[in-house]
Amino acid sequence: MCGIVAILNTTRYEDSVKQTISALERMEYRGYDSSGIAFIDKEHTLHRICSVGKINNLYTKCSSIDGTCSAIVGHTRWATHGIVTVENAHPQVTGNIAIVHNGIIENYNELKNIVNEPFTSNTDSEIISQLIFHYMKTGMTFKNAFLKTITMLEGSYAVAAICSDCPTTMLGAKKGSPLVVGSDQNHIYMASDAVALSQMTPNITYLEENDVIVAEQGSFQILENGTQQIHRNSVPNTISTENIDKGEYEDFMIKEINEEPAAVSNAYNKFKCSVNIEKYSTIHMIACGSSHYVCILAKYIIEKQKKIRIITEIASEFRYRCPVLNKDTLYVFVSQSGETSDTLGAMRLVLSQNMDTLAIVNVQESSIAREAKHCIYTNAGVEIGVASTKTFVSQLVTLLLTAGIDIPVMEVCKSINKVLNNTKNIFSTAQTLIKHKTLLFIGRGVCYPIAMEGALKIKEITYTPTEGYPSGEIKHGPIAIVDNTVCSVVIAINDDLYEKTMSNMEEIKARGGNIVTIGYKSNNICIDDEEMPSIFASITAVHMLAYYAAKLKNLDVDKPRNLAKSVTVE
Ligand code: AGP
Ligand code: GLU
Repeated sequence: MCGIVAILNTTRYEDSVKQTISALERMEYRGYDSSGIAFIDKEHTLHRICSVGKINNLYTKCSSIDGTCSAIVGHTRWATHGIVTVENAHPQVTGNIAIVHNGIIENYNELKNIVNEPFTSNTDSEIISQLIFHYMKTGMTFKNAFLKTITMLEGSYAVAAICSDCPTTMLGAKKGSPLVVGSDQNHIYMASDAVALSQMTPNITYLEENDVIVAEQGSFQILENGTQQIHRNSVPNTISTENIDKGEYEDFMIKEINEEPAAVSNAYNKFKCSVNIEKYSTIHMIACGSSHYVCILAKYIIEKQKKIRIITEIASEFRYRCPVLNKDTLYVFVSQSGETSDTLGAMRLVLSQNMDTLAIVNVQESSIAREAKHCIYTNAGVEIGVASTKTFVSQLVTLLLTAGIDIPVMEVCKSINKVLNNTKNIFSTAQTLIKHKTLLFIGRGVCYPIAMEGALKIKEITYTPTEGYPSGEIKHGPIAIVDNTVCSVVIAINDDLYEKTMSNMEEIKARGGNIVTIGYKSNNICIDDEEMPSIFASITAVHMLAYYAAKLKNLDVDKPRNLAKSVTVE
């Protein structure tokens, strides 16, 4: 979560404010409640400028300043400790030190006893600048004070620090949150995401756990565990700015929904299997959010067609319940970002017990991709919208192919395209939905995880209380909420559970609940009959429905409140 960027101008003073803010904008999807920059000017004075809300506000605040500097750090925040205010925004500054931090310092309260300065924020992060400042006052150099501070921190961090008394030095460290470094003739860059550096440096180096970066005198060194210098390979930064552009579309979310057919065919055509799953008696799939719903959907299809035992589980539960692991099991971790802290933590637990792991990941070179024993990329392309859409279908294709299930790609894409062209009906269904206070998405079999996906998307981008539930289960409780303020979205494809779902729908109608339908013979959003294409088309339909409902409510679909794209804190 949150975006970090840091630039050291190695040959001359330069105005790097615009470049820093553009890099922050490219990472804005990671967190966007507040943002800020701090830079060291020619007189060696440290300046801090922060604002709450979207990065545009920071841009406006900085539009007329002279940002000529030797070094600059920038941050876009997703608050974990301390409400959203200018004081709590990063960079956090103590004396001559400015830091930006991504993650959580779990022992920040304990560490407060070491320092004497008053705290100016309620963040956990301020302890980092306080400690560096404190140790420098005891006579340590900036570098040594930073190294000492890092050893004191418990929790997770990607951190970048500058000091106005050492204007040509920039320091960074990583534990549990991603950090990359790159350089060109005149600059050294650090960022929490390769996307940030896409226009800046052709090559980047991904740091490993506990690495420290020391950038000074025009070059940088990586220190393993903050001690021994180590060489880490750099890779081409392949993310081009075109991929992170909205193009003709109004929002990233609708662009990415329209890319669902391409995501299906790319996942299919570029699929490279690196593991023989027949070796295993059980497949245990672990993920968060939408990626978890994809696992449930894949389980329904794979168990039915391939008779392979599959368990699905939420990563944040799995990692702390002391699970009993098994050598005959393949542990599969599904993640778009490849950085989700809970999924990564769950995977590290499995790896620590020497079990086999397979990552199904979209972002190449992400932590989950790099640390898993086997990895298959979903190849959906960069996904910027916080609500995951094209990722969902590409993950499903990849999981099914991994299990040896072939997919009629042409038919699937044709059915998705029909939904994409059905904007009129989907729009009018969304108009019905937004008239209701509460929504209930229901389905049976494969339509159950699709219902949960629809409910999650609605909650995420329209803020409407919504349940996603198995149709057969509503009579065991949830049906009590039904009255005419509740609208149920019934998802039913042409399979052997269709009639049963219809009966559940009648039960809701009989209690005065309103209904819209997605699927076979629907009057609202009608979907093709064939089973596999209709599964994919129903997914696209719930994505479109949530999109239009949010647009009708005039909400920001790409940056919904309280959320971030890449959840790198637990
Ligand atoms: C989906 O719309 C959400 N933004 C969220 O649930 C997401 O799927 C979840 O955070 C997992 O992310 P990941 O796939 O990057 O691990
Ligand atoms: N924990 C820090 C804060 O709340 C950093 C959060 C982030 O990663 O954006 O300020």
